[in-house]
Amino acid sequence: MPRVLLLGAGGQLGMQLARTLAAEVELTALTRAELDFTDADALRSAIRLAKPEIVINAAAYTAVDKAESEPELARLVNAVAPAVIATEVARTNGWLIHYSTDYVFDGSGTKPWVETDPTGPLSVYGHTKLDGELGIAASGCRRVILRTSWVYAAEGRNFLHTMLRLGREREQLKIVDDQIGAPTSAEAITEATHIVLRQLADCGEDAAASGTYHLTCVGETSWCGFARAIFAAFAVQQKAPEVLPIPTEAYPTPARRPRNSRLNCDKFAGQFGFRMPQWEDALNKVAKVLLPPEHR
Ligand SMILES: NC(=O)c1ccc[n+]([C@@H]2O[C@H](COP(=O)([O-])OP(=O)(O)OC[C@H]3O[C@@H](n4cnc5c(N)ncnc54)[C@H](OP(=O)(O)O)[C@@H]3O)[C@@H](O)[C@H]2O)c1
Repeated sequence: MPRVLLLGAGGQLGMQLARTLAAEVELTALTRAELDFTDADALRSAIRLAKPEIVINAAAYTAVDKAESEPELARLVNAVAPAVIATEVARTNGWLIHYSTDYVFDGSGTKPWVETDPTGPLSVYGHTKLDGELGIAASGCRRVILRTSWVYAAEGRNFLHTMLRLGREREQLKIVDDQIGAPTSAEAITEATHIVLRQLADCGEDAAASGTYHLTCVGETSWCGFARAIFAAFAVQQKAPEVLPIPTEAYPTPARRPRNSRLNCDKFAGQFGFRMPQWEDALNKVAKVLLPPEHR
């Protein structure tokens, strides 16, 4: 069993990973309360103590709008800390599995982005996540950087839970309909991460898998389409509000977001032999976890 250090174990993705990894690897899992990424010395010490063969970094500053007014904190967590982790991983010739985002792109056009497309983040969050990727690459460590999008889970703070709450409070919701991407469940990302881990654990000194990959659920929709699908999936539990489509301009936010968040995931499928589920199927699977047993 490979020795794995999971960082960010208290986040929505981190929780899924922590729950499923323990059966497969020798796991050390640390939450923010146990290891704060703003303390680089503590980060180095924790990695040296755990002596991992593989580090999985699921921690990030993910408050996209708040990052506009807290750029330094976002930079420390999303850019500085990943570079520190990567330097430690390079020292021991281990592997780093790290997550990044569709928000590294500027959202122009309508074609799904491939990994080699030019980046152009629109927000502080996107800039800091891109700097994190670049810092990891500069360390020269063996790495699998997984860019994903629109992450939600049965647990944690996310769009799914926001919609269910607002749906209980209001008769009508106006939701942005011109940002297009793929809602991706933490559960599906976790399944893919297990596939990655198995391949890395078996690869010896080989570095062929090292690189950046896009990893989202299959298909596409808008936030408005995602909201409607959420209310349909939970129709047995709560009455759906009327969901009206609006353009981005009608819902001003501190951070700008890409219109085109489509990511082409062929590279991941080619390297790891795994295709993610259709986004609607992944949503229904998460709904089954949350709905009372008589409605599943
Ligand atoms: N959420 C999305 O829609 C989305 C989209 C694309 C990519 N991603 C990427 O996917 C990965 C997983 O994100 P997620 O959705 O699981 O986010 P999340 O639920 O916000 O989890 C992030 C975790 O990082 C922790 N964290 C924040 N600041 C920290 C610090 N200073 N030191 C240590 N830990 C800290 C958080 O702790 P607290 O809970 O205590 O703050 C939280 O447990 C991230 O790399 C993210 O950038 C997410």
